[in-house]
Amino acid sequence: MTDLSNLVKKLPKAELHIHIEGTLEPELLLTLAKKNKIDIPYQSVNEIKQAYQFRNLESFLALYYQGTNVLLHQTDFYHLTIAYFERVAQDHVRHVELSFDPQAHVSRGVPFSCIIEGILQGMEEARDRLNITSKLILCFLRHLSEDRAIDMLKMALPYRNYITAIGLDSTEKDIPPKYFERVFTQARLAGFLTVAHAGEEGPASYIRQAVELLKVRRIDHGIRCTEDPDLVEKLIALKIPLTICPISNIKLKIFSKMTDHNIRALYDRGLFVTINSDDPAYFGGYINDNFMQLIEHLNFQASEIIQLCKNSFMASFLDPSTKESYVKLIDQIAQTEMGLQPA
Ligand code: HPA
Ligand code: ZN
Repeated sequence: MTDLSNLVKKLPKAELHIHIEGTLEPELLLTLAKKNKIDIPYQSVNEIKQAYQFRNLESFLALYYQGTNVLLHQTDFYHLTIAYFERVAQDHVRHVELSFDPQAHVSRGVPFSCIIEGILQGMEEARDRLNITSKLILCFLRHLSEDRAIDMLKMALPYRNYITAIGLDSTEKDIPPKYFERVFTQARLAGFLTVAHAGEEGPASYIRQAVELLKVRRIDHGIRCTEDPDLVEKLIALKIPLTICPISNIKLKIFSKMTDHNIRALYDRGLFVTINSDDPAYFGGYINDNFMQLIEHLNFQASEIIQLCKNSFMASFLDPSTKESYVKLIDQIAQTEMGLQPA
């Protein structure tokens, strides 16, 4: 166990499913609430942590959006972003594809320019000071209409060169991806790649729609794909990565305990699985904590942890030669740490 925790710490990794708003730690939430004079129903970090008990995705999202209320100024988005990068530098994260939910902020009167420029400032500093590269994913909120998503896309167009992909998140039940087909087509025509949350609480058919109609390059979560064996075949054949978030899935009661999580089955089936933290400040675990859960509860071995770290880069939107150099680096580190030969 000690060896594997060392290995997890030392291996470079990419994080591909992370919501910047979900990295708002209780301490920063309290500081920003005070600074910006925003009423929140908590007095202390402890009270906040006590409140973070969720029944399902919906009950989590209520607190997540409440948390976003304290983010008002460009500097708030910058502080939020750089705090996340500083934290994951400790986990040896070397590349991040960062999601943000601008509709949760523009609806409160925060200009889109403040949101994105604050985040970009954090990303640039992370690159220069922490040696962590990153790309940005703008997510549409699926509980809002497609027309609102189209408005958002228009707002984002001047920042086209700073946004790599468009995503889809928030409430999933009864809101199929097909409702967003038009705006995703427009986004692709404008040059964005696409990803979408699907098959977290929603059925396998939503994953199929995300692949077939929204033409996504990755599925966020996707754990319910197993309900449709043909879909599983298709995901394997097309090498579509699933960005899985084990601790998130337990906290939101998708599975009742880690030993029940289906990531072991998905991995063994040959799906292109990656490990991520989703909303670590709310779920109490960053990326390495997620890896440790797999080791402690699902019997993941050194060679599998190494493969998952390689997958994280291979599933990213980095260019092929950068991906290859990370895979080589992982092999070198694995060999030094474990005496393991490249697979
Ligand atoms: N699912 C859907 N929407 C989200 C999530 C999630 O896990 N985290 C933040 N927004
Ligand atoms: Zn998510």
